Amino acid sequence: MSQFERVAALSELDAEGRLSVVVDDRMVLLVRQGDEILAVEDVCSHDGQPLTDGPVSEGAIVCPRHGAKFDLRTGRALCMPATEPIATFAVKVENGEVLVSTEPAAPLPVAAPAAISGKAESCCSTTPATGLPVMDSGCSETEGETPPDESGLLEALKQVVDPELMINIVDLGLIYNVSLEGHKVDVDMTLTSPACPAGPQIMQQSKMALEKLPGIASANIKLVMTPPWSPDRMTDDARDQLGIF
Ligand code: FES
Repeated sequence: MSQFERVAALSELDAEGRLSVVVDDRMVLLVRQGDEILAVEDVCSHDGQPLTDGPVSEGAIVCPRHGAKFDLRTGRALCMPATEPIATFAVKVENGEVLVSTEPAAPLPVAAPAAISGKAESCCSTTPATGLPVMDSGCSETEGETPPDESGLLEALKQVVDPELMINIVDLGLIYNVSLEGHKVDVDMTLTSPACPAGPQIMQQSKMALEKLPGIASANIKLVMTPPWSPDRMTDDARDQLGIF
C-alpha cells in the first residue's frame, strides 16, 4: 500500500503554481491546475530532460528540450518525440501541507502519441523493443478507413522534430516526396547532413507518425541524399525559428 510523504507547504508553490520536489529519491514536479495539484515524474521519457521549466497549458506540459508533450493527469505522451508515458503520483493537501504518494500510479501501457494516433483503439500493436506500431496483416479496420490526403500526411510528419534544430522535418525541408497508393505511403526524405546522428530516430518517428493515421497500413521511409539538403529548403517559419532572415 502506498504511503504519502510531506514534500512542501502549499505556499511554496511559486506564482506559476509549480514546484520540483524529491519523493523517495525520485524527482517529482507539482503543478497546480485550478483547485487541484497534480504530480508527475520530473523527467522526460524521451531523453531524460527535467520538465520543470516546460510550458503548461490545457492540462499538459511540454518538454523544453525537444518539444514532447505529456498529459499531467495521466502521464500519457501526447506528442513526439516521446512515445512512452511519464509516471504520475497521487497528491493530498492536509492542513496547508502537500503530500505525495511514494509510489507512482499504475503505469499506463506504452502508447503512441494520442495527438497523432487518430484512433484510440485499433488492431495495431506496439513492439516493446522499438516502440514502433505493428499492423496486423489483414487489418480490417484500416481497410475500411479512408487515408488522409497529402496535406494530412504532411501534417502528421510535422509531429516529427529534428532533435538538433528543434524544427519539424516538414518545415525544415527534409521531405522530398510523399505518395499514397491504397493504404500504403512512400516517403522520400533527406537529412541535413549524411552524418546526422539523429537520422535513424527521425526515420523511425516518421514511420510511426504515418502508420498511426487512420487508413494507413504501412509507411516506407526512404532516405535520399540527392539532391543534398540546403537551408534554401526551409520554410519561412523554420527560418524565423532559427533566426535566419
Ligand atoms: S528530452 Fe524531452 S522531448 Fe527530448
